Amino acid sequence: MRTQVGIVGAGPAGLLLSHLLHLEGIESVVLEERSRAEIESTIRAGVLEQGTVDLLSEVGVGERMKREGSVHRGINLRFGGETHRIDLYELTAGKAITLYAQHEVIKDLVAARLAAGGALLFEVSDVRVDDVETRAPRIRFRHEGRDREIACDFVGGCDGGHGVCRSYIPATGRTEYQHVYPFGWFGILAQAPRATEELIYTRHDRGFALISTRTPQLQRLYFQCDPRDDEERWSDERIWEEFRARLSGPDGFRVAEGPIVQKGIVAMRSVVVDPMRHGRLFLAGDAAHIVPPTGAKGMNLAVADVRVLSRALAAYYASGNTDLLDRYSDTCLRRVWLAERFSRWMTAMTHRDETSDAFLSRLQLAELEYVTTSRAAAVSLAENYVGLPMPV
Ligand code: FAD
Ligand code: DHB
Repeated sequence: MRTQVGIVGAGPAGLLLSHLLHLEGIESVVLEERSRAEIESTIRAGVLEQGTVDLLSEVGVGERMKREGSVHRGINLRFGGETHRIDLYELTAGKAITLYAQHEVIKDLVAARLAAGGALLFEVSDVRVDDVETRAPRIRFRHEGRDREIACDFVGGCDGGHGVCRSYIPATGRTEYQHVYPFGWFGILAQAPRATEELIYTRHDRGFALISTRTPQLQRLYFQCDPRDDEERWSDERIWEEFRARLSGPDGFRVAEGPIVQKGIVAMRSVVVDPMRHGRLFLAGDAAHIVPPTGAKGMNLAVADVRVLSRALAAYYASGNTDLLDRYSDTCLRRVWLAERFSRWMTAMTHRDETSDAFLSRLQLAELEYVTTSRAAAVSLAENYVGLPMPV
């Protein structure tokens, strides 16, 4: 099989890259190790930055998002048992975020690729990438019981934080920055009405908690836990008790409770791979960088990367000019580090850290106090939360 760009991974990065290339008249094949049903139902992110929403709309995959997603003009920070609103819209002169689940974005992108006759191969295995230092890379893999091979001009390494593509950048030419947090997030989906119109990020002595939402009947909530904990040890009653404790306060705020239909724990880490490119292999999204979920940046960074990459590839195919491809890694990494900074800051400000001391724990409250009383500090939070300008 031959194509122009071979893409490994059908997450937001791989699928959107394939879609953007198609709009530029560039052919691609996407290889995914999981089934279509699985990628379309895995519960992950929910917050889309303004720039992500604008891009998905511009490129024709935003119709359902506009109809079914909900636009939030503010978020809340809760500490000391009180809730403080950050008015994103006012502080950023008219920007907002949209709550729309990542697997819904995936469904929209898969549908768009298939409608355009795009090649998506699910349930592939044993993906290997070769010859990326030449002008003729190859991707070898197994599909439907057969060994297969794609000859291509470029490889998009969009296979997430546990993929194989990252390892094809030789260790000698790559720096992998990593920070592991001693926290996990316990995430649940509950059949319950909304407890709040806008997200609530909570700092409590028992640990962080977050109330988010999906639909009027389905809520997404998280609480900080030990990353080695086992979700099966947490009964519904114990989970709701933990939320009640972390969200309690003199204002009498109560989270709406209901049957928990999904639960899972994710560990938290920050990773940056530098450079994001080796020869004709280009990493994008979680394959190149991971952020802790507190800033809600992961999927948005994946979108920003493939926007840069698709433009660079379009320029190359139009003129043979490799300038944008040569700048790809630096262009993306500048904004990636700003998102890493923001995500770590939001995490440090809101999570209980048992390896820390009483002084640092008290400083968290000062940080929260500052960001909820100083306009300058609130503007800084807001402009990062709705998303810094897309890289050009
Ligand atoms: P992925 O979505 O991981 O996609 C990679 C794909 O590659 C997968 O489908 C995988 O099956 C496939 N793959 C892997 N290895 C191979 C292989 N060898 N061969 C073939 N295919 C392979 N981000 C936000 O922006 N906002 C949020 O609110 C937010 N909340 C989050 C909450 C949680 C609980 C979690 C876990 C993450 C959250 N994120 C959030 C992060 C976001 O989900 C990720 O950053 C995003 O999925 C990255 O997209 P991606 O396409 O780079 O990688
Ligand atoms: C959600 C996830 C996040 O990481 C976050 O910071 C806010 C909301 C969510 O899944 O809704």
